[in-house]
Amino acid sequence: MGIFKKSSTEGANYITARESRKISKENRRITDEYEKKKNRKIIPREEYITQMKNSENVVEFDNLHTYFFSDVGVVKSVNGVSFDIPKGKTVGVVGESGCGKSVTSLSLMQLVQRPQGQIVAGAIRFNTGKEVVDVTKMPTSEMQKLRGNKLSMIFQEPMTSLNPVFRIGLQIDEVIQLHYPDMNKEDIRKRSIEMLKLVGIANSEGVYKMYPHELSGGMRQRVMIAMGLACDPELIIADEPTTALDVTIQAQILDILRDLKNRMNSSIMLITHDLGVIAEMADIVVVMYAGRIVEKGTAEEIFSNPSHPYTIGLMNSKPAVGKKVDRLYSIPGKVPNPVNMPDYCYFKERCEMSISDCNGAYPEQIQLSPTHFISCYRYVNDKGENQ
Ligand SMILES: Nc1ncnc2c1ncn2[C@@H]1O[C@H](COP(=O)(O)OP(=O)(O)OP(=O)(O)O)[C@@H](O)[C@H]1O
Ligand code: SF4
Ligand SMILES: [Mg+2]
Repeated sequence: MGIFKKSSTEGANYITARESRKISKENRRITDEYEKKKNRKIIPREEYITQMKNSENVVEFDNLHTYFFSDVGVVKSVNGVSFDIPKGKTVGVVGESGCGKSVTSLSLMQLVQRPQGQIVAGAIRFNTGKEVVDVTKMPTSEMQKLRGNKLSMIFQEPMTSLNPVFRIGLQIDEVIQLHYPDMNKEDIRKRSIEMLKLVGIANSEGVYKMYPHELSGGMRQRVMIAMGLACDPELIIADEPTTALDVTIQAQILDILRDLKNRMNSSIMLITHDLGVIAEMADIVVVMYAGRIVEKGTAEEIFSNPSHPYTIGLMNSKPAVGKKVDRLYSIPGKVPNPVNMPDYCYFKERCEMSISDCNGAYPEQIQLSPTHFISCYRYVNDKGENQ
């Protein structure tokens, strides 16, 4: 794009104020277009009602592109991501900080920060149980009906998601009431207490009356899970659900999630930078690097036969089970600048296994088995066919 120049300090980039203003103006023009389309009073149902490619899936990300139009240029946070979440399965999404895990899940919830963040291409098909919608084209008002109902989210820091001035019980009651408007007050209260019991809270009647600050971090996360599950979601999105917790509590929360998933037959999209968590929980693993998927497969395939050099690096830097780490990654080098991605393999600068072919265009996705996919030149000639 030519907006980045190397300064005298190695690796530092700058743009002039004038250039930045020009970019802002252009950004506004682009994002206004997207917003105008989104803010139409009436969006015909035909625009967003669709079909799944495979009826066994609850979600299908199909070539998703989510960009941020920032003052220094376009950040291609999610740059052509495709994967499925089958019914009743846990899909683990792993990759180092900034690779686009959260933006992928926020795209699915229509919670990408607007107007600068926009889904510019691709589809996200979601089977609500009644119909299939393309979330990228759906009106916000319709999406609101799915959030916290068919789709629920569990975040890293439960304190920021719970309202400090209201009692726990009231907050769960509210979620239940919203989704079961015909239920009477007493039945709602009973269900809230039942949900608290379900997530392993022994003194559920007592906790029902408490305020968030009276609970420990682990207890608050249990409450968040109870709220998330109060309305039988088709899909639970858990973004680093245990990162803020200590190891024993972490294990308990994962047990609860696993147990509830089996009981309710929901699917889970589990986002984490911790491969230990993925190994314990996931049926399918998606490995992201710099906004793209570099490898995906069943957990068995990824753990017994990690094939992409980045995945191999992740495995080598995997901490011992039960050891808490803030950052998983220790492969030398840096992720490329997200505003100025190279036109060859994004991992090349850090790859210790590169071959001469790697100077070519970004590698196409190759199929190693019916469920195992990879984007890497090492596999082009000997292990599969270009897709
Ligand atoms: N609101 C925003 N405005 C501009 N850029 C953003 C915004 N939100 C995210 N990004 C950029 O998008 C990229 C992907 O971010 P994302 O939050 O998805 O990473 P992540 O994989 O979830 O990382 P982490 O493990 O740290 O949570 C990053 O380069 C980030 O800086
Ligand atoms: S394509 Fe080449 S540089 Fe990229 S990960 Fe594979 S071997 Fe490494
Ligand atoms: Mg994140």
